[in-house]
This record gives sequence, C-alpha cells and structure tokens, in this order.
Amino acid sequence: MKLAFIGDIVGRPGREIIAKYLPELKKKYHIDFVIANYENVSHGFGLTKKNCEELLGYGIDAMTGGNHSWDKKEIFEMFNTYPLIRPINYPNASPGKGVLKINILGNHVAIINVMGNYTMPMSDNPFIKIDQVVKQLITEGVKHIIVDVHAESTSEKLAMLHLLKSRVSAIFGTHTHVGTDDLIIADGCCYVTDVGLTGCRDHIIGMDKKIPLQRFMTGVGGHFDIPKKCQKVLQLVIFELDANGRTLKAEKLKIYDTEEIVKTEGRVEQY
Ligand SMILES: [Fe+2]
Ligand SMILES: [Fe+2]
Repeated sequence: MKLAFIGDIVGRPGREIIAKYLPELKKKYHIDFVIANYENVSHGFGLTKKNCEELLGYGIDAMTGGNHSWDKKEIFEMFNTYPLIRPINYPNASPGKGVLKINILGNHVAIINVMGNYTMPMSDNPFIKIDQVVKQLITEGVKHIIVDVHAESTSEKLAMLHLLKSRVSAIFGTHTHVGTDDLIIADGCCYVTDVGLTGCRDHIIGMDKKIPLQRFMTGVGGHFDIPKKCQKVLQLVIFELDANGRTLKAEKLKIYDTEEIVKTEGRVEQY
C-alpha cells in the first residue's frame, strides 16, 4: 500500500496549496492514505473544527500534532470524533491520545506522535515512552507503524531512527518547518529528519518575517502572523509498504506554486 506524509501545514497558504495539488497527487501516485501534521493549520496556531473538516475534505485521512496541539481549545472535544492525535509523551491527563490504530486495505496500522525534549514543553522521556508503546503494538501483531517525531533537535530524531528502525515502518520528523534532504530507507524503515512545512516558503518558518526579524534585531517579540501574500510550497513523502510493514520505496516531493517539482529518492541504507 502507498501512503503519504505531509509535515507542518502552516495557515491558509498551507491549506490552499493542499487544496490545489493533493487531490490530483492522490490519483496520480495511487496514494491510499494521507497523514499530515495539524499543529499550525489554523492561522499558524492549532486546529479548528472548520479547518479540520476542510483538510479531511481535500483527502487528508489522519493528522498528528505537536507542541501547538492545544492552541485552539476546541480540539479537546475533536479528539473524540476526528482522526487526530497529539504527542504520546504528554501527561496521561492531557486531552486526546498519542496512537491512532486504523485499518488500511486490510492492514492493521498504528500512527504514533511523539515529541522531543530539547527546547520543548515538559513531557515524559520520548525514547522510553515510544520504546514501550512500540513493544506493546508488536505484541498485538501490528506490523505497520508510522511515527511522527515532533522535535527541534536533529540528534533526537536520528536517535529515534536507531532505536526503532527494525521495528517500525517509517519515521518522519516535524516541527522545525525546514525540510531536510536526508530521506533514506534503513533496514526497511523510511526516515527523514524533517519533512518541512507546507505553506509560505519566502518568509520565516511560514510566518510573516517582520516579527521574527524584529525579535532577533531588538530582543522585543510580538505575535507571529501568517503573511497576507506569499510564494508557497507543498512538501510530502510518498512511501510504499509491503505486507510486513517494511518500506519498499520512498520519495520526497517539493511542489512549488510555480508548478515546479523537486524530487528526492529515498536512498536504501544498511546501518
Ligand atoms: Fe510546527
Ligand atoms: Fe511544533
């Protein structure tokens, strides 16, 4: 089966480029299931019910979160009715759950969202937590496991690869909004340190450059905003899994609103 993973979708520009390209991409590449990160969907902070339904309507099937999962409080209720998860290493009392179990073309699939520690809100140790969760899923017979590692540091994400690669199908980094070029298939596990944002590409992490620049130049911050006008990009990884949950093939696509496409093939590695 063929799946796609889209990183952090940032604001209206992100939603617009998804609307423009995702339905045709699903047909062209025969994609069975699409996962995306929702933490910046609604004006850059969190996810509203309206925008959740909008994205599901464009062909996204399930969504992962991060440190901005709670920015729109209506999400507390949405976890019960929509295919949404939040990092699994938040305290148990937090709304929502960190694993989504679904059936895709007869395969039992688990999607896990986990958050790194470096510069992130206080949470449980992500490595110990995910190690336990993956062990449990394997005991239950789940072979198709897809992980969103929402983290700032590249080392934490790479450490996740080495901890999990023989046991999970794919690991996708999110949160930095800056895509990396290190797509690989290691021991049958698809990995990229960061998929990168979907939204404005000519500002700073999808946000209007004015406030971040002001903060860096003066030390005085302000509220980050989505640019009114910008040049956009849609970034996604398309990956094919076999019956045992191993990745057969993967490629990363950067689709520009100029119609240009940059492709990166997943290099097969034996680590
Ligand atoms: Fe983000
Ligand atoms: Fe984040």
